[in-house]
Amino acid sequence: MSGLRNMETACEEQSVNADGGVLVAGPASRALKGRVTVPGDKSMSHRAVMLASLADGTTEIHGFLPGEDNLATARMFMDMGVEIEWLNSEKTSLRVHGVGLRGLKQPSGILDAGNSGTCVRLMTGVLAGQPFSSTMTGDASLRQRPMKRVTDPVRRMGALIDGGDDGNLLPITVHGGALKAIHYVSEVASAQVKSCVLLAGLFAEGETTLVEPRPTRDHTERMLPLFGQPVHVDTDGMIRLTPTGKLTAPKDPVYIPADPSSASFFAVAATLVADSDIVLERIGMNPLRNGWSRILAGMNGQMELQNEGVVGEEAVADIHVVHRRLTGVQVNPADVPDAIDEFPVLFAAASLADGEFVLSEAEELRVKESDRIAVMARALMAAGADVDEYPDGVRIKGGALNGGCSVDAEGDHRIAMAMAVAAQCADAAISIRNAAAIATSFPGFVVLAQRLGMNVRWQDG
Ligand code: S3P
Repeated sequence: MSGLRNMETACEEQSVNADGGVLVAGPASRALKGRVTVPGDKSMSHRAVMLASLADGTTEIHGFLPGEDNLATARMFMDMGVEIEWLNSEKTSLRVHGVGLRGLKQPSGILDAGNSGTCVRLMTGVLAGQPFSSTMTGDASLRQRPMKRVTDPVRRMGALIDGGDDGNLLPITVHGGALKAIHYVSEVASAQVKSCVLLAGLFAEGETTLVEPRPTRDHTERMLPLFGQPVHVDTDGMIRLTPTGKLTAPKDPVYIPADPSSASFFAVAATLVADSDIVLERIGMNPLRNGWSRILAGMNGQMELQNEGVVGEEAVADIHVVHRRLTGVQVNPADVPDAIDEFPVLFAAASLADGEFVLSEAEELRVKESDRIAVMARALMAAGADVDEYPDGVRIKGGALNGGCSVDAEGDHRIAMAMAVAAQCADAAISIRNAAAIATSFPGFVVLAQRLGMNVRWQDG
C-alpha cells in the first residue's frame, strides 16, 4: 500500500491494520441504542466524482464516501488532470473542477483501482471514449475478477482492449477513440456493466440502448440528468441515451445520501440483539438498493421509516430498527440484484434465525470481492452454523452460533463486517482475520459500532 494512500485514508481501520487487521467481536454485552449517520453511499460517490470530472464547470459534492474505493476513482481523475479540492479534512466534501468530456489527459502511469470493481468497470466505459491509451490494474482480489463483461461491449463500440485471458483479467489497456453506439443486451444483471455502457455512450456517435436481464441500481440513470444528459427508460425497461455532447456541472451541490449497504450491518445487529432500539439517519431508500430491508422484513424484522424525503434524485429516510426474533425465508430470486451486496449480513442473520433460509440464483456472489458464498459458508460453519452451499446460493438452518473461533474474511470488507454482526449473538467471541478491507467501504465502522453498543474492537498489535 502506498504512503500516499495511507495518508489519504486516515481512518482508524487504516492505522490499525497495515498487516491485514484482526477484528475481535462479540458476544454483545448490552442492547444497541442510539442514532448514527453512516458514511455516504459508495455507488453514488463513484458516479458523482466521475460525472463531475467529465463536466464543464465546477461541481461541489457533499456526503462523499472517503473509503479507499472512492478515493481510487478520485485519484484516477487526478492522474488525468482533474483538479479536486477537498473541502474538509474528513474528505466528505469536495469541489471537482471538471475538464469536460474531451478534456482528460493521458495518465503518465498505470491507473490503480485498488479493490474496487465499480471503479475499474465504470472507468472502462470512460477510458474507451478517450483519444489515448491507458492501463488499469487493481489489487490481488480485483485482478482475479471478470472484466469481459465490460471489455466486450466497449470493444463492440470500437475500443481496442489488451488484457489477460482476452481482456478478461487486469491489468487491461484500453485504446480508446471514436466510438459508435450499440444496442447491448446484457447477460448479467449488473449495474456496473450497464453504467460502463452508458458512460461509453456519452462519447459514442448515435443512440446507445441497453436491456438488462433484471433491473439493477439506477444511480447512473438518475445522476446523468443532473449534469444535463437525459436518459430514457422505456416501459419495457430498455434504457436509451443519446449523447448531448457535453455534461454541465449542476448549479447546486450534489448531496449523497448515507449508504444503505453500510446501514444494513447495524440494522441486522439491532434486530438480532435483545432490547435494541436504534435509528439510522438519512439512508438512501432507492428501491433497487433496499432488497435487504424487504428480505429482513420477510424474516420478521421491524424497520420503520421516519423523516422520508428526497435528496437530488434519490429517496432518503431515517430507519428505526428494534429487536425482533427472526425466522428463515426463501428469498425471491427477483430480489437478488436489489440485495446483492447485503447477502453476507443476511447470511449472518439467517444463522441466528429460527428455521431455514434459502437463497438461489445468486451465482454473482461468487465473483465479488471474494467468493461470498464459499467464504461466508466457511466462516459461519467455523462458528457452528449449519450451512449447505450450492453453486448459486445457500441453505442455512438457523438457531444459534457457538463462536469461540477464528475466521478469515479473506480481505472482503463485507464478510468482515457481517461476521462482526453475527458474533454479537454468538456464545463466545469470534476473531476475524484479514478484516482491514473494511476501510474500502466503511471507514469508521468500528467507532460507530462501538457507539451503538456493539462489542467489537481491533486486536492490539
Ligand atoms: C455496484 C454494482 C454491484 C455491486 C457493487 C456496486 C455499482 O455490482 O455489487 O458493490 O456501484 O454499480 P454488479 O454490477 O457487479 O452487480
